[in-house]
Amino acid sequence: MRLMSFPTTRPRRLRSSPVLRSLIRETELTARDFILPLFIRPGKGEKRPISSMPGHFQYSVDMAVKAADLAVREGIPGLILFGIPDKKDAKASGAYADNGIVQNAVKAIKDKHPNLLMIADLCFCEYTDHGHCGVVKDGKVLNDPTLALTAKTAVSQAKAGFDVIAPSGMMDGQVAAIRKALDGAGHGDTPILAYAAKYASAFYGPFREAAESPPSFGDRSGYQMDPANFNEAMREVALDVEEGADMVMVKPALPYLDVLKAVKVRFGLPTSAYQVSGEFAMIKAAAANGWIDERKMALESLMCIKRAGADFILTYYALEAARWLA
Ligand code: PBG
Repeated sequence: MRLMSFPTTRPRRLRSSPVLRSLIRETELTARDFILPLFIRPGKGEKRPISSMPGHFQYSVDMAVKAADLAVREGIPGLILFGIPDKKDAKASGAYADNGIVQNAVKAIKDKHPNLLMIADLCFCEYTDHGHCGVVKDGKVLNDPTLALTAKTAVSQAKAGFDVIAPSGMMDGQVAAIRKALDGAGHGDTPILAYAAKYASAFYGPFREAAESPPSFGDRSGYQMDPANFNEAMREVALDVEEGADMVMVKPALPYLDVLKAVKVRFGLPTSAYQVSGEFAMIKAAAANGWIDERKMALESLMCIKRAGADFILTYYALEAARWLA
């Protein structure tokens, strides 16, 4: 592209009125872009605030249905569920139990809202007593033994009524294991949203309180990616695509827009980004101090994530942003 130079060209001409600015705006944000994460806990009538994520709660199944009502009312197309099980153990039994916590929640929500897209986060850190995302032996997270549980969990989630399975454990081969298991169990039409490039990020801090899932020893850098790496993210996405991912995700979002952009351009797949708990909490905390304009900053962040290449965004701002945009 060649431009005439100043004074022939004056970019400010097109910024001179709201109607012109709106006419040439390249990206539009709507409630249809958002997926709302919900945390499900045991019990009845429970709605426990998550202190580091104002406006978010751990819901019992009955209360989660009410939260889903709100999402539907605001035009949010889908939810992603995280479970806090009754009991945690070494085998993550709660993740694939027939009456597991998210299995029960999806049934109740689908009952009332059959058209709401229900996404299952598939990971074990909320279900293991050690808080790691896989089977642990001698202080190591074992890859291949974890895949057997991954396969079982995917089938259990699809059977319970989830529309999309989203593996976030960062085990090698997890997408292939899920595809094979789903196909073998008659769920060949259930798509996989792969957390393809998921970084070992400090931005997950508040989530670990919300999901009661911090690792009891070490950290997740033996399976999640090093924030320093870009090329490795391209390899991770390529592998997931080859294994059968229908959609991919980059996580976190805002600090990784270079990765997001490249994934969208190189692979051309439906691509999502997860604006994670820490990204949300930072805006909330700064707003609580009166340091920034929350609404403007949240919408700007979401707009930039979409501009960089996200077809949809998993965000704790889903409800608020939908209201602001309405
Ligand atoms: C499960 C999982 C995590 C998040 C989504 N799925 C936590 C982690 O990897 O430690 C983080 C989401 C957020 O911070 O909002 N593994």
